[in-house]
Amino acid sequence: MPIVSYSGPARDWDALAVALAAAMGGASRVRREEPLGPRTTLRVGGASRLFLEPADAAALASALRFLRAAGVPFLPLGRGSNLLVPDEGVDGAVIALEGSTWSAFTPNGDGTVWTGAGLRLKQLCGLATKAGLAGFEFLEGIPGTVGGALRMNAGAMGGWMFDRVEEVELMSAEGEVVRLPRAAFHVDYRHCRELGDAIALGAQLRSGATAATPAEEIVRQIDVYRRKRQESQPREASAGCMFKNPPGDSAGRLIDQCGLKGLREGAAEVSPVHANFIVNHGGATAAEVLALVRRVRAAVYAQKGVELQPEVLLFGRRWEEYL
Ligand code: EPU
Repeated sequence: MPIVSYSGPARDWDALAVALAAAMGGASRVRREEPLGPRTTLRVGGASRLFLEPADAAALASALRFLRAAGVPFLPLGRGSNLLVPDEGVDGAVIALEGSTWSAFTPNGDGTVWTGAGLRLKQLCGLATKAGLAGFEFLEGIPGTVGGALRMNAGAMGGWMFDRVEEVELMSAEGEVVRLPRAAFHVDYRHCRELGDAIALGAQLRSGATAATPAEEIVRQIDVYRRKRQESQPREASAGCMFKNPPGDSAGRLIDQCGLKGLREGAAEVSPVHANFIVNHGGATAAEVLALVRRVRAAVYAQKGVELQPEVLLFGRRWEEYL
């Protein structure tokens, strides 16, 4: 059961952790009160009551069945680049697919490659370059994993993740594994319906070129994107763009035109470099970030009549509770 809105009942989390560890088997890991801030790029927020690192798909299926029976919500965590974790943390089980079992990169020799959900996009680009597979360059600067990029249909530089997808293997909340073709997915800007309450395990991706591409050519394209990003996006800790671009417009431009660059709440600031980034100068809280989100939305609505929608996920909560 994915979290929709949760201020959970009192539970014996220690007992749940012990039972989960037994259900998942020895090679998996179960932790209590795992701080989530350091596992996100924005670096704010509290701990997860339960934190699971399943060793393999069987352990993950056992965990999901256990959580379902116990009525405990689960949340998959990738690289944490598009997440705001509330200060009180998450009353549920955060699931991370860590380690080599989950980070396959297996070219099939026909321009396609099988990638595990835990593979980082940066690694994917490095390996694709060596394998002569072009078309993944736009993903290089996104600090995410394949699984997270599928879930969010992550995008940059005019491309998005599902452009490259042929098939996705996913595990349903009931622990069933299915492999579905691209056509089975309803994807949109920063959204994939089928992964809303399932966990991506991996994907078959296709290169954008019909023949092998020389590494220098791929590297050149990666450099072009990297330079563009470095010129236009801040280097401080952030969750990437905070708001979705409204149709036909740019949230960054709107926020900028409202004169909001440099607006601060404690250690959180609307970036002076790109107005759609909220940066953490060190030690910011989720409450400060949320306060900025509200102020930015209110100002843009007042001056432009546009209601910006957050792109960043509020982990384990619903934005409506806060906006
Ligand atoms: N602009 C301003 N002021 C600003 C920021 C932007 O005037 O403070 C203007 C720019 O000059 C440009 C326009 O707004 O004319 C668009 O800006 P930019 O090219 O930076 O693109 P964006 O729409 O703000 C999108 C994605 C980014 C992605 C970049 C590059 C969204 C919400 N953002 O940004 O994705 O990296 O394009 O491809 O779709 C993310 O999703 O987290 C993210 C960072």
